[in-house]
Amino acid sequence: RHDVLTTIVVFGASGDLAKKKTYPALFHLFQQGLLPKRTRIIGYARTQMEREKFVGRVTAFFKVAVDAPEVVRFLAICEYVCGQYDVAGDFQRLRSAIDDSELAMGKGGGPSEERVHIYYLALPPSVFVSVGEQIKHNVYDGTCTNRIVIEKPFGHDLDSSRELSRAIGALFAEDEIYRIDHYLGKEMVKNILALRFANVFYEVVWNRHFISNVQITFKEPFGTEGRGGYFDEFGIIRDVMQNHLLQVLSIVAMRQPESLRSEDIRDRKTEVLRRILPIQLEDTLLGQYVATRTGDKPGYKDDDTVPKDSTTATYAQCVLHVDNDRWRGVPWVMKAGKALDEAKMTIRIQFKDMPNALFPNLARNELVIQVSPKESVYIKTIVKEPGLSTNLAMSELDLSYHKRYQDIHIPDAYATLILDVLNGDHSNFVRSDELDEAWRIFTPLLHQIEKEKVVPLPYEYGSRGPKGVDEFASERAGYKLSAR
Ligand code: BG6
Repeated sequence: RHDVLTTIVVFGASGDLAKKKTYPALFHLFQQGLLPKRTRIIGYARTQMEREKFVGRVTAFFKVAVDAPEVVRFLAICEYVCGQYDVAGDFQRLRSAIDDSELAMGKGGGPSEERVHIYYLALPPSVFVSVGEQIKHNVYDGTCTNRIVIEKPFGHDLDSSRELSRAIGALFAEDEIYRIDHYLGKEMVKNILALRFANVFYEVVWNRHFISNVQITFKEPFGTEGRGGYFDEFGIIRDVMQNHLLQVLSIVAMRQPESLRSEDIRDRKTEVLRRILPIQLEDTLLGQYVATRTGDKPGYKDDDTVPKDSTTATYAQCVLHVDNDRWRGVPWVMKAGKALDEAKMTIRIQFKDMPNALFPNLARNELVIQVSPKESVYIKTIVKEPGLSTNLAMSELDLSYHKRYQDIHIPDAYATLILDVLNGDHSNFVRSDELDEAWRIFTPLLHQIEKEKVVPLPYEYGSRGPKGVDEFASERAGYKLSAR
């Protein structure tokens, strides 16, 4: 693998995603010696930039100084090509740049020489298809392995997503396409498979007989801040629930795959998604944040890029049902919101009450996987209150990564995912049938909300969400607040 002649083209190289995520991730892999020995990275964007400006952009989010030796070595494998996204001649120039860089890396042209071209589209979806067409007609090299990396949003609803999949599918084979959902690259999300299938004690209770409900929660302490234009078109359900939270749900709910091969994993995820019923409006709570009472934090509609009469939800709670033998009757609650009281992403599996009455039911056991900010896994466990007391107390069996794995750097999701692309591993990428199912689950709800112009409940910036968030989860999902 390390010998493969590798060219990575980053489209949208002057944009935000490339600056904040793609280049820092590539640099991290380079520092760790994980890029193949012969790799070149070509940035492509519309902005005319001198080398100095390009370097300033791509290194802006590196955690080391721009003149540090490893940055200098990294920049030596980076170049920049300026071009439009719909001009054939510009893409032909890109192809020449790729050919030149392969020659410079010592391309021999022998039949056994392995070459990979990776096209990373750090671009808005409006240009996915036109860039895809240009790549296919003017850059694509059928004599090597080609990989196309794209990022959500993949469409707006079931029909538009199918249309996009059809257009991309007409250009590239499914095994050439890597749809990023960056939650699949997060340490604790990748850990779910190991937790569930490498330990003897989880799988036996992983079903409706023992589990009361599952809560998947995403909270951010900031509002749209500058992204109002994008956000208002999508809303919280399309922004994080239909993709990130549903992906997590599918891994928590799926059966054990036949093997760790990517298609076996993706088959199992798709299988469980197929059994999820479309979400009902009555199982949904919507909110939109307003300014703080003191006025120090703005409301959603105070954002200049948001229409003053917007009814887009910035908070949502939905109850989902997986209609199979393992999960029938277990509510899965997704909660997501912007401008809340904290930054947190957790998966909380709440078990049923203990059936015997030897001890009073103090509180329920819960297995909590904290994805961020501090990775941890803990089990809320009842113990005898230490000391002379005979009372019970709620405690935790706690695996906090920052304590247990102090010396290990947990990589950014993008570094993990780009490494997977380099290795040709699709396990942590979304297959087109999974995407289709995800839209099938959410589209009727989204259309109904839009058609009926459902007005979200207000909540104050920095609060826990609209009034009734806890009651909603406990009434709809039988969630019992746990004693801590
Ligand atoms: C993105 C959403 O996909 O995920 C953002 O578009 C959100 O709105 C982000 O802030 C959250 O990602 P992370 O990795 O910061 O949890």
